[in-house]
Amino acid sequence: MKLALLHPGQMGVTIGIAAKDSGHSVSWLRAGRSHETTERATAAGFGSCGTLSDLLARSDGIVCVCPPAAAMTVAQSVVAAGFDGIYLDANAIAPHTARQIHALLGDCYVDGGIVGPPAVREGSTRLYLSGPHAITAANWFAGGLLEAITIEGAPGAASALKMCYAAYTKGTSALLLAIRALAESEGVTAPLLDEWAISQQGLADRSAQAATGTAPKAWRFAGEMEEIAATFAAADLPDGFHEGAADIYRRLTDLKGVRSPSLADVLERLNAKR
Ligand SMILES: NC(=O)c1ccc[n+]([C@@H]2O[C@H](COP(=O)([O-])OP(=O)(O)OC[C@H]3O[C@@H](n4cnc5c(N)ncnc54)[C@H](OP(=O)(O)O)[C@@H]3O)[C@@H](O)[C@H]2O)c1
Repeated sequence: MKLALLHPGQMGVTIGIAAKDSGHSVSWLRAGRSHETTERATAAGFGSCGTLSDLLARSDGIVCVCPPAAAMTVAQSVVAAGFDGIYLDANAIAPHTARQIHALLGDCYVDGGIVGPPAVREGSTRLYLSGPHAITAANWFAGGLLEAITIEGAPGAASALKMCYAAYTKGTSALLLAIRALAESEGVTAPLLDEWAISQQGLADRSAQAATGTAPKAWRFAGEMEEIAATFAAADLPDGFHEGAADIYRRLTDLKGVRSPSLADVLERLNAKR
């Protein structure tokens, strides 16, 4: 198959490499992309195209891996360009956003959700897929480091699974950062860490890791938390946890791309007067 990858970000490039390692050709769209994306795509040996229409004309299938907030716009641009092959959206979007993209693309749409870090190690990363063509899309990755798993259900099921998973992982990271910021603001960090060492072992390390691990990607996590909050609201469950998590990550957006920011850097931004 000739696949188009929109776009080769940190996760996306490994999804493209998994398709290439499964015997498919992978091309990407240069227009509008940063130096970092260009470097990743070039290093991976993907074919490059200058315009969306050229890219779509030479592709049988599309894999969309981009910031969740951009997923709908990317799908709309592909529909506007007249593409009618299989379209896999693998972004962290709410199931109702997935269903809107399904309505836009019809049954050639495959809903996906990725769990795990960029797929550079066997067994680390799973791509859940749902919808009538889920098996076709799973075959795009049959030979690479990414494990593609089809699940029961219409388009929206894979996204719902991803929302439930990230609601816990990224939601609890935001909660720990909020608690560390509150303890700092109230001057009780030392006794809180002492108490955690007695009764909640691991939380001190986990909160420090949450700072260094999530802050560089917080700009993107804010949108993902909003998708999760909307998923809770649509199920008539409280959306406040993840609206709060979105606010925590929004306060860290200027740490985008900063390598290993310290816990102190993160707490300073969370506690900055607004
Ligand atoms: N990274 C992970 O560990 C991980 C884990 C699970 C799921 N995911 C999911 O994978 C998706 C992307 O993750 P990633 O790690 O590849 O992100 P990333 O490294 O931030 O890359 C995003 C890619 O999308 C492009 N992009 C930026 N703004 C865009 C816009 N407005 N419209 C279209 N494309 C845009 C970027 O191009 P520029 O370089 O030009 O900005 C880049 O090529 C997300 O839905 C995320 O939830 C990621």
